[in-house]
Amino acid sequence: MNLTRRKLLQLGAGTSVAALFGSSLFASQSHDSAVRLTAQPSQTRLGGAVSAFEQWSYPGFVEGRVLEGTVGDTWQVELENTLPVPTTLHWHGLRVPQTMDGVVPFGAELVMPGQRYTYDVPLKDPGLYWFHSHHNSLNQIARGLYGAIVVRDPDAAPVFEQALVLDDWTTRTNAFGRREVDWSALEPSLAWGHAGVLGNLTTINGRTNPRIELNRRGPTRLRLLNVATGRVFRPQVLGTRSWLIALDGFDCIPLELSEPIFLAPGQRADILVEPPQSGDVQFDVGDGLFGTGTLLPLTSVRDRAMATEEFLSWHAPHNPSELRPGETDQRHDLIMGAINYDDPRGAGMMGGAWRSWDELLDQHKYWVFNDVADGSQGLFTGRIGETVELQIANNSSTHHVIHLHGQHVKVTYNDKTPMEVGAYRDSISLEAFSKATIQMRLAEPGRWPIHCHILGHQVSGMWTWYETLA
Ligand code: C2O
Ligand code: CU
Repeated sequence: MNLTRRKLLQLGAGTSVAALFGSSLFASQSHDSAVRLTAQPSQTRLGGAVSAFEQWSYPGFVEGRVLEGTVGDTWQVELENTLPVPTTLHWHGLRVPQTMDGVVPFGAELVMPGQRYTYDVPLKDPGLYWFHSHHNSLNQIARGLYGAIVVRDPDAAPVFEQALVLDDWTTRTNAFGRREVDWSALEPSLAWGHAGVLGNLTTINGRTNPRIELNRRGPTRLRLLNVATGRVFRPQVLGTRSWLIALDGFDCIPLELSEPIFLAPGQRADILVEPPQSGDVQFDVGDGLFGTGTLLPLTSVRDRAMATEEFLSWHAPHNPSELRPGETDQRHDLIMGAINYDDPRGAGMMGGAWRSWDELLDQHKYWVFNDVADGSQGLFTGRIGETVELQIANNSSTHHVIHLHGQHVKVTYNDKTPMEVGAYRDSISLEAFSKATIQMRLAEPGRWPIHCHILGHQVSGMWTWYETLA
């Protein structure tokens, strides 16, 4: 049997593309491949923007290197830790078994300095994902411990593509008038209680002004990934037509773009860009630091050109969990807010009891999920196969981005960003005072984090978990 994905899609809504992708279709063709990643200190200057500093990274990935694989394969990733501190690897957006997920309190191994550890990483879904340290995440991701992943679907339409990894860095001018990276910004601070740690130098693939090439003879797929620990980018392509075609790795119904999108920390978005009729194409990262951003020069590529229309019509959303509209076994609320000075019971809960404003501030807790500031209480427990609806309310004046480990969820409601409705995501962006509803089907057993990917918020209260029982 050799069904292409296009044929599968033609079989109609009743056919589960996902079931085939997730397991059986590629089982006979799948193979294992060995990948080596070294977490190591290295000297960098971010392309000359700052004085040399010690970064922690997996070589090449801050600069835009992509780890590529094929749906159905399994990677055996050997991590070697040559850092002076322990670390782990988390596979953001990939559906991996819990022990491979990199979360130490929930069953992952802490990889000590000098040690090696091998992760088994099944590639179940095509799309753009990323890996990053999940130990002292705020610190380790800010220092460069991240990288992009593209999982290829062998039946997908061929298109020229570029991965753009968006980051920011906190810099200061030293006594000699040189710009240098300032790691003190990662210490506990009131920034955690506001928008998070926002840098003042933006990079794309490790450079402030990279040259990004587009296909001259057909569309280019830009794969955007926000690895910043706090900054919400508002990217936009100017000077030509572009379409949003995937969110968090998963295809969505193509949407022609006329305004910037939200790309919150941890999120991904794929944008299909047409060559312009004339003139230049600009890429504006929308970081509020620079006006209009990077120029995208056009180059001719040898790639087989494909018409934009053909690509867009080929596209269709892929449903990994066969969720049906309205199907719900359990319903829960996730109410996010700041610790509350005016609540007579206390400003928030910690260690199972209500605490005063000062007690919470002492522990650098600024945020609560359902009144709890330390993630000590899980959000819900269910069995494999059950569907859960989560109604999320952001009752604060700050943007948040809720990341769920273990699976993709379907966005069924978003009061400020209705274009997200219907999308499958692993990281849901919530503007100030907004609401969203998500639906999910519990799949892999274990405890899985739910946290804000603005990492200053994660450490200061925006962390909880759910549990799937076998
Ligand atoms: Cu990208 Cu819990 O993380
Ligand atoms: Cu947040």
